[in-house]
Amino acid sequence: MCGIVGYIGTKAATDVLVDGLRKLEYRGYDSAGISIFEDSKIQVVKAKGRLDNLENKITSLGKPLGTVGIGHTRWATHGEPSDVNSHPHGNERVTIVHNGIIENYLQLKEKLVEKGYKFLSETDTEVVAVLLDYYYNGNPVETISTVIKNLKGSYALGIMFQDCQDKIFAVRKDSPLIVGIGEGENFIASDIPAILKYTRSYYLLEENEIAVIEKDKIDIVDTDGDPIQKEIFTATWDIEAAEKGGYPHFMLKEIYEQPTAITNTVSPRIINGAPDFGIKALTDEILKSFKRIWIVACGTAMHAGMVGKSVIEQLARVPVEVDIASEFRYRKPILNPDDDLVIIISQSGETADTLAALRLAKEQGVHTLAVVNVVGSSIAREANSVIYTWAGPEIAVASTKAYTVQLSVMYLFAIKMASVKGLIDEKETAKLCDDLLALPAKIEEVLQNADNCKFVASKFQNAHDIFFIGRGLDYSLSLEGSLKLKEISYIHSDAYAAGELKHGTISLITTDMPVVAIATQSHLFEKMISNIKEVRTRGAKVLLICKKGTERQADLSEYVIEIPDYNEYFSPILTAVPLQMFAYYTSVLRGCDVDKPRNLAKSVTVE
Ligand code: F6R
Repeated sequence: MCGIVGYIGTKAATDVLVDGLRKLEYRGYDSAGISIFEDSKIQVVKAKGRLDNLENKITSLGKPLGTVGIGHTRWATHGEPSDVNSHPHGNERVTIVHNGIIENYLQLKEKLVEKGYKFLSETDTEVVAVLLDYYYNGNPVETISTVIKNLKGSYALGIMFQDCQDKIFAVRKDSPLIVGIGEGENFIASDIPAILKYTRSYYLLEENEIAVIEKDKIDIVDTDGDPIQKEIFTATWDIEAAEKGGYPHFMLKEIYEQPTAITNTVSPRIINGAPDFGIKALTDEILKSFKRIWIVACGTAMHAGMVGKSVIEQLARVPVEVDIASEFRYRKPILNPDDDLVIIISQSGETADTLAALRLAKEQGVHTLAVVNVVGSSIAREANSVIYTWAGPEIAVASTKAYTVQLSVMYLFAIKMASVKGLIDEKETAKLCDDLLALPAKIEEVLQNADNCKFVASKFQNAHDIFFIGRGLDYSLSLEGSLKLKEISYIHSDAYAAGELKHGTISLITTDMPVVAIATQSHLFEKMISNIKEVRTRGAKVLLICKKGTERQADLSEYVIEIPDYNEYFSPILTAVPLQMFAYYTSVLRGCDVDKPRNLAKSVTVE
């Protein structure tokens, strides 16, 4: 949540910052702002609302001219979205941008007020700016060290001191931050896409390391000011991957990228007809020894975990518990270091609750395996083992390709576990791997169905509520379909295990109530027919999602979307695609901001 960017070099800093913020807008879009050194002074421009508002303000006030600056795009936590609560915060001596939450800001604020400081905003961030001013002794590193020792909570900070105009400073704890290495110019950013246009080389800042950044030099020091040697990372994402590339929205582009993303994720991990993750710490012997698996994640990633539970339990016969990270971390889970494996799933690798869940599991001595998309993210770095999903950058707030690649890793893992436990032989393992490898071609077929998804969306676009129902794997998919729809179209939606309807929810089914019924599993199809009839009898308008060629009465549903007749075990990956397209077109037809739905941010770095 919140994106920060900083630049020092020879280019017009305003342009570089605004360009970087555009790439980070997915992290929050309640307001935006920049600070630039201009004529030896700190010039600040900030505006409530989307980045366009900031750009308009810059145009009307005159572009700050300078080659050093910091910028911010905000997802509001403390203080409503407003000009005054927008970042940067500070005064004529110090200016900062911040991503994270300062938990003890009220206590700090009280002390600073007693010392005569006045506050303009309601934010926690302003307290950090004032604290920097209070402790400033002419030595920025010493001052930053003192200030962070006073802070409780999470922060990624970009800082400029008025009397240090050839430097910007950065420090982080529990919020991501990279330092981009250019030629005659350097950068800070919350995420790689912000700097990709200028450089692919970067340092990952670790907890409480302080970066002192000049245009030709980067020093990274600890809180005592002692230098730290850092590894240089190289971003493998290409620039096009972070651009819309002719699509009207990132979400649509990312939906269409799924075949490639799955191929990139799966094929390098299938060696001689069997899954191989190449993880030294997880030998076959160790994998075999796990008696229970936990999958912990948030939102869509958690839904991927639900499919993971079904497939791991079915194939490998190991019990799996799926937990929402924000619940897991506070409910004192009973973990057993000898028997348990904790799988953490996260696209961003920075989700605060998921990271906290990972730390809790590690503290208890349990092996943690992260399934993460962003290379070098906190979760990837802190987990005992990591499997990267190679989806490339996912920019749209609503997750699509990250979800299906997470599913593909769940399948690979289930096949691997089943194979090491001797529950499937070599031939069966190879067949499942082949089916997984052939899935991208099947997704291409589903993508050709876009017009039908759009047509159905046009029929349901004015609904107030939409219910999703399914059984087994299709129930997990219903949860994801419902989440996707509500988050980007703002239509209220809920998902139910179809067998649960009669235990309460069916009272909500009245004339013309839209119901999306997912029925791709043959062994549950008859049951689903009964559930569909139950809702139709009460007036529901049904969209059925089923396999091509499924035998059914012509009037079972008003609308139908078919997925290819393929190994049913993998149907969640195929079914996810029309659900994503249905949500996408509904959102477009309702005139919503598809890529940046209200109140949301891509990377939830606060709990
Ligand atoms: C919904 C969505 C979210 C994320 C959740 C976890 O479309 O994207 O529900 O899945 O915020 O995020 P990550 O995977 O980054 O941990």
